[in-house]
Amino acid sequence: CFLVCSCPVSAPVLSFHVGSGCRDPHSFTQAIADCRRVFEMGRGVGHDMSLLDIGGGFPGVEGSEPEFEEMARAINAALAQDFPEGAGIEVIAEPGCFYAASVCVAAVNIIAKKAVLQPGGHRKLLYYLSDGHHGTFRDLLREPYPRVPTVVKELCSKPPLFPCILYGPTCTAFDKLFNEEVQLPELDVGDWLIFPSMGAYSAALSSTFNGFLPASICYIVGPELRNLLETAS
Ligand SMILES: Cc1ncc(COP(=O)(O)O)c(C=O)c1O
Repeated sequence: CFLVCSCPVSAPVLSFHVGSGCRDPHSFTQAIADCRRVFEMGRGVGHDMSLLDIGGGFPGVEGSEPEFEEMARAINAALAQDFPEGAGIEVIAEPGCFYAASVCVAAVNIIAKKAVLQPGGHRKLLYYLSDGHHGTFRDLLREPYPRVPTVVKELCSKPPLFPCILYGPTCTAFDKLFNEEVQLPELDVGDWLIFPSMGAYSAALSSTFNGFLPASICYIVGPELRNLLETAS
């Protein structure tokens, strides 16, 4: 999406946003090339075009594909080509997720559990969690792979893993964190799971669907998290 804004006291700003969770650096390359044409059109009709805003869409979660550096390389190459240094253009960005994602972790506990026998006698575990798709985790379905949470429990060094489905608490079929299974050890009601990098599109998108309140927010530093979970369970 493109936007050209102008007000009487400032020069026109040309801005675009490729969309959050962008996975194709070419989206930036194309948008920057399009902006160059819009700059030329603006200048052609007498506007003082000098500010380009390349919006958000940068990854904030570690291990994202493509990673931030790859996007930055594509953007730098496109800017060097279409808005070279010395051309008098100031370039800004609005990296929301990039800054916000890593500052929060989501801690959820298991409120119910069911074991299902699969063909061949293999067990599949269904864990029902204190928060789910209608709360903090709405945005995770947009991600290409399920995130595997950290288990907060003393376990033997190599516990057997089971295919698990993670459900939220609201008793609707849609209230799953991911459509795919994740591999986790056998856990119990009351055990905690930690999802890192949950600072973007989590609390902001959560609802009170079926009467469940949004997650409470606690400010903590380092090892205090373990103490907090122990007192909360
Ligand atoms: C105009 C604009 N800029 C920046 C952002 C932040 O995007 P992101 O969280 O992908 O960095 C958004 C998010 O929707 C947006 O609409």
